[in-house]
Amino acid sequence: SAAGPLKNTTNRWVGSAVAAGPLADEADYRAVLTREFDSVTPENEMKWGVVEATRGQYDWSGADAIVSYAKRTGKSVRGHTLVWHSQLPDWVDDLEAGELRSTVKKHIKTTVSRFKGKIRAWDVVIEAFNEDGTRRETVFQQKLGDGYIAEAFRLAHAADPRAKLYINDYNIEGINPKSDAVYELVRSLKKKGVPIEGVGIQTHLALQYGFPTTMRENIERFARLGVDVAITEADVRIPQPTDAAKLEAQADFYEQAWDACHAVRRCVEFTTWGFTDRHSWVPGVFPGEDDACLFDEDLRPKPAYHRINP
Ligand code: XIL
Repeated sequence: SAAGPLKNTTNRWVGSAVAAGPLADEADYRAVLTREFDSVTPENEMKWGVVEATRGQYDWSGADAIVSYAKRTGKSVRGHTLVWHSQLPDWVDDLEAGELRSTVKKHIKTTVSRFKGKIRAWDVVIEAFNEDGTRRETVFQQKLGDGYIAEAFRLAHAADPRAKLYINDYNIEGINPKSDAVYELVRSLKKKGVPIEGVGIQTHLALQYGFPTTMRENIERFARLGVDVAITEADVRIPQPTDAAKLEAQADFYEQAWDACHAVRRCVEFTTWGFTDRHSWVPGVFPGEDDACLFDEDLRPKPAYHRINP
């Protein structure tokens, strides 16, 4: 009874994280992805720990498969991610500062150049802040200092000048100390002429924590800095067991996030972190929580889907 595919109901990019395994193996997964979305984000396939688990030995198989699917089906691609403390190859941890700097440089150049012209937007640096707004003490922060973020953006821009470059984090949906810190950083980077063009708001929500009611205001203040905003990883976890009332509450959360984005012209993308409960990171990382996606395990649209696409 929906109006049509989700991607046709809005002039924003409507995306999903996608995993190369099911994309290759499951025709029904592929069919729903192709029908409903016009942007894809590789869920893991471009992460440093995947593409260069062993120093100097690259594996682009998953990333290439997703990028070629996107080309075949006319989807836009969000690149994810270049500088992140997690899913980092072990060997990177042991490098001393000078070598770490040149290695990060090589990683950014190699990865961005490989997909030059094929990526609409890159998550250049993600999760750089703690909840209190201080810098997260990652290997990059500790060994390269505050300037590592500006440097990463300059390197990515040099490798693909047309890709939109984003900083990205979680728990920055509403106005809070962490989103304040991202705001101040973006402001200072823009002032220095660093090529940053967007803020990615992950939007991993959970019913039990409530909806971040200042989301719209927060998106508006970022837009006023002169950058785009993207919802990059939306999902809404349900404490188990799932029931009809919780599915309605989940629909409310999705609708509020969708509306917050659509209220601001510069919020240009609404991407979910997977689209089916059949394949979601949630149960593996948050025991006792599940069913965070728009489609159920059998790829049937859930109340949340109907709410944003009535
Ligand atoms: C997650 C993937 O979904 C999992 O498959 C993987 O095991 C861990 O990473 N924030 C991000 C994403 O930016 O890259 C993470 O993806 C989820 C949290």
